[in-house]
Amino acid sequence: MNLSKITIIALLIVVAIAVSMIVYYFYLKPTPVKKVLRVGTSPDFPPFEFINETTNEIVGIDIDLVKLIAKKIGYEVEIVPIDFDGLIPALQAGQIDLIASGMTITEERAKVVDFSIPYWEANQAIIVVRGGQFKPRGLEDLVGKTVGVQTGTTAEILITDYINKTNANIQVKSYSSYILATQDLLNGRLDAVIVDEPVAQALQRKYNVEISASIETGEKYGLAIKKGNAELLNAVNKALNEILNSQEWYDIISKYTG
Ligand code: ARG
Repeated sequence: MNLSKITIIALLIVVAIAVSMIVYYFYLKPTPVKKVLRVGTSPDFPPFEFINETTNEIVGIDIDLVKLIAKKIGYEVEIVPIDFDGLIPALQAGQIDLIASGMTITEERAKVVDFSIPYWEANQAIIVVRGGQFKPRGLEDLVGKTVGVQTGTTAEILITDYINKTNANIQVKSYSSYILATQDLLNGRLDAVIVDEPVAQALQRKYNVEISASIETGEKYGLAIKKGNAELLNAVNKALNEILNSQEWYDIISKYTG
């Protein structure tokens, strides 16, 4: 074997190695696919989830919260807007993996979904048009009036339970979205809206409405996951627990509540 043969063989070996490396990197190497967490939310509930009118994006405390959780547990987030009363059915049907929608942990709901540890506490509030004559101080002052709520919410349950218990003559209108209810309040089709107090505070900043009364309900919000998915639930709870004690959480809250 003369020198030029050795050179050729050496060159061939180098080329072969280079080719196999290229083939490996571009065709064979498994690209790490980020798992996607499909998050259902009803984006009519500032400051938790609402549509940013300039960017048309769904934003809010719940959105930043799930993004942070997802980052910690190795998921990418896909936000899926769904009317509030469609969220639990969508979770059960496997169309979404998690609900982040200011959802109150209730016994009834806990029968059909698993809830994370609580991340927020809230009461209900009655809102009316700012500066108007009508100033209800509680549910009893809503007699003879028309009141808006969102379908499937604890506010809807609160007012219907009250009516059933007291036989009060109160007209209840249920809306797919709290934004639509607020608009009907502003244009005079409703006398009042019952909504979670932190949301009432945000609506008060954004629209010509004001809180007229608070109703203590002591609700706690949780993220909801399909029943029996212990692995995801444990991962979410662990991440949530870390976040709730962090500066990041404080920053998210101040970003959306000012
Ligand atoms: N906390 C209330 C409930 O669980 C209202 C939640 C409404 N959420 C929303 N994103 N519109 O019933």
